[in-house]
Amino acid sequence: MNSTSEKIAVVTGANRGIGLAVSRQLAEQGIRVLAGCRRPDAADDLKALQSQGLPIEAVALAVDDRGSVAALAKAVEQRFGGLDILINNAGVALDQWQSFFELSADCLRETLETNVIGALHCSQLLVPLIKQRGVGRVVNVSTELASMGEMQMGSTVAYRSSKAALNAMTVLLAKELEKDFPEIWVNAACPGWVKTELGGPDAPRTTDEGADTIVWLATLEERHNGGLFRDRAPYPW
Ligand SMILES: NC(=O)c1ccc[n+]([C@@H]2O[C@H](COP(=O)([O-])OP(=O)(O)OC[C@H]3O[C@@H](n4cnc5c(N)ncnc54)[C@H](OP(=O)(O)O)[C@@H]3O)[C@@H](O)[C@H]2O)c1
Repeated sequence: MNSTSEKIAVVTGANRGIGLAVSRQLAEQGIRVLAGCRRPDAADDLKALQSQGLPIEAVALAVDDRGSVAALAKAVEQRFGGLDILINNAGVALDQWQSFFELSADCLRETLETNVIGALHCSQLLVPLIKQRGVGRVVNVSTELASMGEMQMGSTVAYRSSKAALNAMTVLLAKELEKDFPEIWVNAACPGWVKTELGGPDAPRTTDEGADTIVWLATLEERHNGGLFRDRAPYPW
């Protein structure tokens, strides 16, 4: 990573949950975090971290709106001339433990808009800024529920299918960058089952525990590219 200047990270879905913990952990390492949220004016937890002196600022970012992502990319280029880290964390889980036959196409479409197309917009518009640095890290926040070996129990078809697509995009982007940008590494992370709005109150992990592997991948010194990781170890697709 570029050690001569302050590193800049964009974290999507950073106003709460795992994204908030990732943002704080990165900022505690001295990385300047542009914390993407749909309503930065209401991002009180991010403002509290900023007022503690951490290098974090809330920035407007709706990942399913390409114009919103483009506006952020333009602002980042103008202010910093490049980007070091992108964390595609924003996500939704809209379907329940229901039959495949009960899933509506609208639910699947809406899930894909954020979990897949949102990550596509952010990667297409923000990775070019990482290319300008020549060195950087991209982390896609996935889930073990999307691993093929874990699909036997069925259900949450939209959520799992969306994250399986995100896993595929992780490998495909890593492969595409590998030749010309061998120092840009793209990986996916499983945070585990984490107590958030999405994870629910019964989840055993804290947001800090869920953030750990994501932050580790975002700051990797040892080469890993195009992989899926859980608890800082490879996890089967
Ligand atoms: N919690 C778990 O157990 C668990 C397990 C495996 C994977 N994950 C993954 O971890 C990531 C974070 O989940 P979480 O548990 O922290 O969930 P969360 O507390 O529900 O937070 C989700 C975040 O994503 C944002 N978001 C949703 N749609 C967005 C959009 N279109 N544009 C911009 N931001 C958007 C939300 O913003 P608003 O506040 O504006 O809605 C919120 O900041 C997700 O990708 C999730 O799939 C979570």
